[in-house]
Amino acid sequence: MGPLSAPPCTQRITWKGLLLTASLLNFWNPPTTAQVMIEAQPPKLSEGKDVLLVVHNLPQNLPGYMWYKGKMKDLYHYIVSYVADSQIIIPGPAYSGRETVYSNASLLIKNVTREDAGSYNLHIIKRGDETTGVTGHFTVTLYLETPKPSISSSNLNPREAMEAVILTCDPETPDASYLWLMNGHSLPVTRRLQLSRGNRTLFIFGATKYIAGPYECEIRNPVSASRSDPVTLNLLHGPDLPRIYPSFTYYRSGENLSLSCSSDSNPPAEYSWTINGKFQQSGQNLSIPQITTKHSGLYACYVRNSATGKEISRSMTVKVSAPSGTGHLPGLNPF
Ligand SMILES: *[C@@H]1O[C@H](CO)[C@@H](O)[C@H](O)[C@H]1NC(C)=O
Ligand SMILES: *[C@@H]1O[C@H](CO)[C@@H](O)[C@H](O)[C@H]1NC(C)=O
Ligand SMILES: *[C@@H]1O[C@H](CO)[C@@H](O)[C@H](O)[C@H]1NC(C)=O
Ligand SMILES: *[C@@H]1O[C@H](CO)[C@@H](O)[C@H](O)[C@H]1NC(C)=O
Ligand SMILES: *[C@@H]1O[C@H](CO)[C@@H](O)[C@H](O)[C@H]1NC(C)=O
Repeated sequence: MGPLSAPPCTQRITWKGLLLTASLLNFWNPPTTAQVMIEAQPPKLSEGKDVLLVVHNLPQNLPGYMWYKGKMKDLYHYIVSYVADSQIIIPGPAYSGRETVYSNASLLIKNVTREDAGSYNLHIIKRGDETTGVTGHFTVTLYLETPKPSISSSNLNPREAMEAVILTCDPETPDASYLWLMNGHSLPVTRRLQLSRGNRTLFIFGATKYIAGPYECEIRNPVSASRSDPVTLNLLHGPDLPRIYPSFTYYRSGENLSLSCSSDSNPPAEYSWTINGKFQQSGQNLSIPQITTKHSGLYACYVRNSATGKEISRSMTVKVSAPSGTGHLPGLNPF
């Protein structure tokens, strides 16, 4: 049988059509009388899955029905018909081999492809001249498995409070929504974080320590979801006001002075020490063995971060008492 030859049974069937347009995915006009309705189960599906087009309120004792692909009820779009009297199934030109029609008119389509998406029409043949045919249609919406996204960034090393960062979740995927996570949780509500329409792009204005952390994005559609690998912003910040340890300031002659300076900074700060305004040494720690009274003075630790261009210092006064054995003031030594 060539594709243009009409299937034998269709020619002796006459009907008038009443078009019933049902909105396809999830809602229907509430039927006042029992209207024939077609429901896709599931309504949204991905490639390779099966869909059952369930026909509700099918009138009893019908001679047969025909399924069409698309809205055109012509031979090219004729998938399959069922002749109830003889229980014969007649495939048409649009039959792919993956469709099964049941006696209750429901149509099963297996292993759906993107090409199967679209509307389908059921034509119901009623007995007698006064009866009418009924058609309904609906659309299969096909969702593909979401690809694993990746995050592209305008700048992975933002300077604190100075630079904005734009993170984009790639690729652009139709019919998908985008979701961002920070430290594994949904984004904190702050004016510093703004999303584009559609949420594919995240703007971070004035990066701070509180919004540093691993960012992930997720692409979701009704059938799947996939998450990117995390991208961590390397926030360039600091140096913060340094701390000098130990903080006590009175020493006895002959003791070893050992001071350590630390400051939160990324990248790590460069340290240097001055005594009474005179450069002493670079490095985080200052050690002077066997100090004498002439080591009394103003000790300052300078910290500098060349990435942020910031520099800050803290100073403390060190007093060294004479080696009489009475110089050390025990009450002022916290240790
Ligand atoms: C029609 O038959 C199919 C296959 O047996 C079944 O899955 C479907 O639920 C039936 N439809 C109705 C409306 O009962
Ligand atoms: C589904 O269809 C694809 C081609 O569209 C084919 O490669 C695959 O083997 C089919 N799967 C099954 C279970 O029939
Ligand atoms: C974008 O994300 C916000 C919250 O993160 C959410 O309320 C909104 O519905 C999302 N918009 C879209 C189009 O997905
Ligand atoms: C000071 O350090 C020297 C070694 O550099 C050590 O021999 C000496 O015991 C230390 N003195 C005190 C008081 O800790
Ligand atoms: C400086 O001293 C502190 C405390 O003693 C120590 O943890 C740190 O490693 C030292 N830093 C350097 C660069 O030696």
